[in-house]
Amino acid sequence: MYEHDVIVVGGGGAGLRAAIAAQEQGADVAIVTKLHPVRSHTGAAEGGINAALRDGDSWEDHAYDTMKGSDYLGDAPAIDTFAKTAPDEVIQLEHWGMPFSREDDGRVSQRPFGGLSFPRTTYAGAETGHHMLHTLYEQVVKRGIEVYDEWYVSNLAVTDEDDPNDRECHGVVAWDVQSGEIAGFEARDGVILATGGLGQAYDHTTNAVANTGDGVAMAYRAGVPIEDMEMIQFHPTTLPSTGVLISEGVRGEGGILYNAEGERFMFEYGYATNDGELASRDVVSRAELTEINEGRGIDDEYVYLDMRHLGEERITDRLENILHLAEDFEGVDGLEEPMPVKPGQHYAMGGVETNEFGETCVDGLYAAGECACVSLHGANRLGGNALPELIVFGALAGRHAAGEDMGEALIETGPSEELDREELGVPVGLPSEQSDTAEPAADGGEPVEDVDTRSSEEVVSDAEATEEERIETLLEREDGVNHADVRADLQTSMTENVNVFRTEAGLEQALEDIQEARERYQDVYVADKSRTFNTDLQHTIETRNLLDVAEAITMGALARDEFRGAHWRKEHQERKDDEWLKHTMVSWNDGDPELWYRPVILEGHEETYEPKNRSY
Ligand code: FUM
Repeated sequence: MYEHDVIVVGGGGAGLRAAIAAQEQGADVAIVTKLHPVRSHTGAAEGGINAALRDGDSWEDHAYDTMKGSDYLGDAPAIDTFAKTAPDEVIQLEHWGMPFSREDDGRVSQRPFGGLSFPRTTYAGAETGHHMLHTLYEQVVKRGIEVYDEWYVSNLAVTDEDDPNDRECHGVVAWDVQSGEIAGFEARDGVILATGGLGQAYDHTTNAVANTGDGVAMAYRAGVPIEDMEMIQFHPTTLPSTGVLISEGVRGEGGILYNAEGERFMFEYGYATNDGELASRDVVSRAELTEINEGRGIDDEYVYLDMRHLGEERITDRLENILHLAEDFEGVDGLEEPMPVKPGQHYAMGGVETNEFGETCVDGLYAAGECACVSLHGANRLGGNALPELIVFGALAGRHAAGEDMGEALIETGPSEELDREELGVPVGLPSEQSDTAEPAADGGEPVEDVDTRSSEEVVSDAEATEEERIETLLEREDGVNHADVRADLQTSMTENVNVFRTEAGLEQALEDIQEARERYQDVYVADKSRTFNTDLQHTIETRNLLDVAEAITMGALARDEFRGAHWRKEHQERKDDEWLKHTMVSWNDGDPELWYRPVILEGHEETYEPKNRSY
């Protein structure tokens, strides 16, 4: 068994920043990550990092834009903490050597981005995430923080009390992808989940193959509620054949969207008469799909994004990476031709419920970054707000886990009997008679009523034994269902039914498909029996995680019968503030998922936000 004070799961931006912060507090920290840190998906972030750095801008304006962008589903304490802290975090990155693009006078450059009232997006060309990841990794190496890379964390070691609010997390179980060794990692002070996104629940996504919702699913099954899962962002400019991202930075620099008639449709058809192409992402994605559905798309599939008028010098200075992506993945020369683009899954606004210090309701378990829902983004994230989220909330979680006293959090977490519960009226989870043989309980122990009296070491070693048994079971089966078929069917149904435009019938169909996929997964088997680099085994475990998060996404989408931010419902065309200023929460509830609600917090550090009509 390995032992550290703080264990960070995931080596992307949030994980690295959390590890640095915990180490600065004096903790012995380890990062356990299924990828080498610099291969993390943060490296694919292109456009930039929002922070109020300049005269004429303010954290209050950044907070207001974020709240408006969230369509009033963000929690004000999270938004205010974020907007206030982002400038210091960006300056810290700069001091660590982040190669930001600069103006002639030496100042860090900032560009306009969608939904911002001030051009506050700092950037490093169109490879901002790549440079941020390397800058943070340098600090990790410099500090001698231990990194277990290519170790896949497949479960948490959590106690078994009935009430999740009474549980404690003592560590994780991981297996070494290179050797197949399974080991427990005991965390004396805390485990921080920083596992990123879940885009592989969809088949057209900007997300990497590694983004399989692992942290969300593990925390969920350990009893932590997951929040606002229905809020999925579809980025308006992805390449049609691969889903590769074409940065919003192109539109920030002045790129224009055209339909097949050569019309600048954002203005022409009144989708966003002030901000046009720089409206928020939900607005632009719906506009593009409306154009396509009304017959004004190209090949019935996409629209054009044109940056030729910006000129070669500006493009190569600020957007060079975009030229390579368009050429390499679509065969298009962005200097000579418009680029084909369409909406694609990009980001999960929801995730593991945390407070502003990254704490979940399970003692010792934290989450930060895309896998967490603090809730900063509400119903729609603004472009350029993901990277600062990683560093702001990564740092807070790291410091808190390492013991810094931050006072009382303003955001509450954990299931509470007093909050509304709802029956969906549609079956979810697995029928109770069907045992989930491929996945034992979080740590393998029988649930106990009051207090789990095992020592921390026992909790971790029991979890390790359970994980060994699960992996043996998967490897011993000689035939059955291939996980890839289950995953492909899931992705198809999610893309068809839980996309930009959602209907009641489509969402019900998706839940039926997910139930069927869950049942098939009971007979899943792993064809590759080897212990080294067994990606078949890894993907099989990941597929289970995708099923769990997809079900929660769809449950939330069906329950929320209103149109808010990225969540458009055909039968419910208005935002219903009287009823829906609340978060959807899903609790695992021993495999019988339960839906309940928690009110949105609009009272911020200095003002109470008033929901307004949202137009761009
Ligand atoms: O379009 C982009 O460059 C993506 C940025 C983001 O998601 O924040």
